[in-house]
Amino acid sequence: MKVSPSLLSADFGNIARDVEMLNRSSADMIHLDVMDGVFVPNISFGFPVIEAVCKVAQKPLDVHLMIVEPQKYITQVRDCGAAIMNVHQEACVHLHRTVEAIKKEGMKAAVTLNPSTPVCMLEDIISDLDMVLLMSVNPGFGGQKFIGNTIEKIRRLRELIARAGSHAEIEVDGGVNADTAPLLAEAGADIVVAGSYVFKAADPLEAINGLKAV
Ligand code: DX5
Ligand code: ZN
Repeated sequence: MKVSPSLLSADFGNIARDVEMLNRSSADMIHLDVMDGVFVPNISFGFPVIEAVCKVAQKPLDVHLMIVEPQKYITQVRDCGAAIMNVHQEACVHLHRTVEAIKKEGMKAAVTLNPSTPVCMLEDIISDLDMVLLMSVNPGFGGQKFIGNTIEKIRRLRELIARAGSHAEIEVDGGVNADTAPLLAEAGADIVVAGSYVFKAADPLEAINGLKAV
């Protein structure tokens, strides 16, 4: 399993130290959660912080935008060093245009679905996507409980990807830990995001190794 630790649960007073820890880890990428207080009921951090992380990071940045009108910030997201730009389906009226614009800027295009948004909403765009991010909690906070119907959604998404001959990878975000990760792997997930499970662990490097081995 690929692992994308979420910096939302990192120590913001020592962010460079925590990014250096991830550089030494077996993590495949670094997940950054941008929240605007409108799309989700919380505010996290913005572009200056991503830029600062990028200066230290030796892994690709997986940027998850929990914001309204993400299409306004595509160039800025690219300029602060993102490799993957995740936009919410629920936040994009012209999703096809937004996905094309993200790829034109040289980033991988990922679309995120809230727990209540069905996989079939991606039926007509799946072959254009590099990744689909399934939320397994309602976005906005770390440390929430995993929502069980995600497992069925992963299976349905796997089928949709196969039917369309899409190369999109499946990433899952929220409530990932040693208990839920094996279920996600079995259902067909490629990548897991983990915030509190990694950063609250006594040994974050071992926690990441554990998820990688699933
Ligand atoms: C939640 C964020 C997640 C968050 C996950 O809105 O998108 O990336 O950091 O946190 P955990 O792993 O603690 O559920
Ligand atoms: Zn996230």
